[in-house]
Amino acid sequence: MIKKYIILLGLLPMMAAAQTVKSPNGNVSLTFSLSDKGQPTYEMKYKDKQVVNPSHLGLELARDKHASKGMEETDLMDGFKIKSTQTSSFDETWRPVWGETATIRNHYNEMAVCLHQPSSDRDITIRFRVYDYGMGLRYEFPQQQTLNYFVIKEEHTQFAMTADHTAYWIPGDYDTQEYEYNITPLTGIRAVIAKHREAYKSNSSTTVFSNTGVQTSLQLKTKDGLYINIHEAACLDYPTMHLNLDDKNLVFESWLTPDAVGRKGFIQTPFNTPWRTVMVSDDARDMLSCKLTLNLNEPCKIEDTSWIHPTKYCGVWWNMIVGTKSWSYTNDLPSVRLGVTDYAKCKPNGTHGATNEEVKRYIDFAAKNGLQEVLVEGWNEGWEDWFGHQKLDVFDFVTPYPDFDIKMLNDYAHAKGVKLMMHHETSSSALNYERHMEDAFSLMNKYGYDAVKTGYVGDIIPRGEYHYSQLMNNHYQHVIETAAKHHIMVNAHEATRPTGICRTWPNLVGNESARGTEYEAFGGNVAYHTVMLPFTRLQGGPMDYTPGIFETRLSDWSQNPSFVHTTLCGQLSLYLVMYSPLQMAADLPEHYEKYDDAFQFIRDVACDWDDSKYLEAEPAQYITVARKAKGTDNWFVGGKTGEEARTAVVRLDFLDKGRKYDCAIYQDAKGADYEHNPKAYQIIHKTVKKGDVLKINEARGGGFAVSLIAK
Ligand code: NOJ
Ligand code: CA
Repeated sequence: MIKKYIILLGLLPMMAAAQTVKSPNGNVSLTFSLSDKGQPTYEMKYKDKQVVNPSHLGLELARDKHASKGMEETDLMDGFKIKSTQTSSFDETWRPVWGETATIRNHYNEMAVCLHQPSSDRDITIRFRVYDYGMGLRYEFPQQQTLNYFVIKEEHTQFAMTADHTAYWIPGDYDTQEYEYNITPLTGIRAVIAKHREAYKSNSSTTVFSNTGVQTSLQLKTKDGLYINIHEAACLDYPTMHLNLDDKNLVFESWLTPDAVGRKGFIQTPFNTPWRTVMVSDDARDMLSCKLTLNLNEPCKIEDTSWIHPTKYCGVWWNMIVGTKSWSYTNDLPSVRLGVTDYAKCKPNGTHGATNEEVKRYIDFAAKNGLQEVLVEGWNEGWEDWFGHQKLDVFDFVTPYPDFDIKMLNDYAHAKGVKLMMHHETSSSALNYERHMEDAFSLMNKYGYDAVKTGYVGDIIPRGEYHYSQLMNNHYQHVIETAAKHHIMVNAHEATRPTGICRTWPNLVGNESARGTEYEAFGGNVAYHTVMLPFTRLQGGPMDYTPGIFETRLSDWSQNPSFVHTTLCGQLSLYLVMYSPLQMAADLPEHYEKYDDAFQFIRDVACDWDDSKYLEAEPAQYITVARKAKGTDNWFVGGKTGEEARTAVVRLDFLDKGRKYDCAIYQDAKGADYEHNPKAYQIIHKTVKKGDVLKINEARGGGFAVSLIAK
């Protein structure tokens, strides 16, 4: 922590009708009031433009036998009186363990309104933190005789929109975020969901709950040029929030993920809900650089973080996703019983990916090219029968297949300065994973693994639970905290989308929780997908997007008819545009060997940064970002475009004055196009200095990458 101050600005008059708190620079203002019925109400402005119209706050309680006596009587919705209001200021600069910048400033003005509900004799506090680019609010429930245990039926936090804004949205779903973004007016959401609701069911686990439900982070744009983003921060011991739109009145309201029996949160006081956040600016670049979600999380809880490290990795993975190799070892087994099935008696299927030979080949490739780790999927018994039966005990996470020598391969890797990365596909049987987790992490410690990719494909066990329920959010958190005790970094696929928890638990180095590169092999991602994700999914934390596919036309080397919806240079740009401390070189070693000059960029690019500057940005259209590699004077620049070809303008104003830089530009060549000519690239070398301007053409679905090495 570098500096920190808190100033108590004082107690506002208790009976004031409306109370306003402004952000440090005054651009954002937040006003709180009580309606005639005593309903908590807030509204929000940015530079005198209305961002959120008056919106109600409150919680409806379940009439539940598990609540404390009396709890079934009264909701926490209205009938409140203001007891006191405290305002204060906070300014702190902190250092993330890894990140886009070396330091992050957390600067806000706060207003905490303590409310009393005379009919139930309960107190709650609503706390607002107002930043220059947005605000967060949360409900706080102090422990008290009259509010001890309660069960939530629904949270009713409203976000009343001022007009029919453009929304960049994916359907609200209790089980998956693996969607492409729709771009429609708010009033256009209903028709799209109604039309596709059946088709959405094709994923392995989906529960779309409403024809106007959407997920957060939700990006919006107003006709008068405001960018608004609604999300949540620090979702702990609480279900994930979706938004449901009243499309007549253009009011979003929170819609929590239920548990297996429809309840939305078992609470014991004292308790604070996650923060509900609204970011706003008239410059789209601020949506990407603003660190509001991280700032609303607690400081790091891991004392010794020396074992946590940003990582570039490759893996025995893409072949399985494309269908040219298998996770399973044999085709002999109609089903598997762990501990009973004898793999020694089974005939290898000849397509198994995680064999000793293949893993050694990837280790050699990683060692040669400076990649720190090798992910190996399909190393453990059970994959013949891993999915589709809601089976409890799919994997034990400790028993390797006969052709995967766990000791030999780890020794081989370590001798070359490489680590293996563990894979725990839970098949969504969280119950089974919790039973085996301690043994599984101990096995990792024994052989020297320090990172695990987890996965939650299929419907959740305990049966009936959803991926984003309170119980499951507690499970993912339990995995993170248990892994931290074992000095293990976590990259969770299909888990709930992140809400900045990586500030508190920086061993959570990645999540998937969105539609990743794998979908390029399952039919494709729209070309603008990766110029959308940084505005939405990445607000809560980094994504393991698994970029770097060079052989984009899969039918050139497999039976798979899909193609990747970017150019080769577009793939390179993702190492900058899709910020993550964990970056995969996802294609096959033999493909990289064919394009070794372009692969040089993946070898060179950093994945931890002292500084980041967003140079150009517009949702679904383009992003250009420059980043300074941690502990060096070197910069890397990446630019990605969506469906439209364009020319990026990169002003090298951020370079050191008087210094020269070796510049390598990896750009789409003339005629490049993600559909028709994806591999046309050129590499230009020159010397540049501060103030120079690079004008770089980006093809449809294309992009560019630049390295600037200080001389
Ligand atoms: C889905 C994950 O996103 C993917 O990366 C993984 O290979 C499969 N599940 C199997 O675990
Ligand atoms: Ca996935």
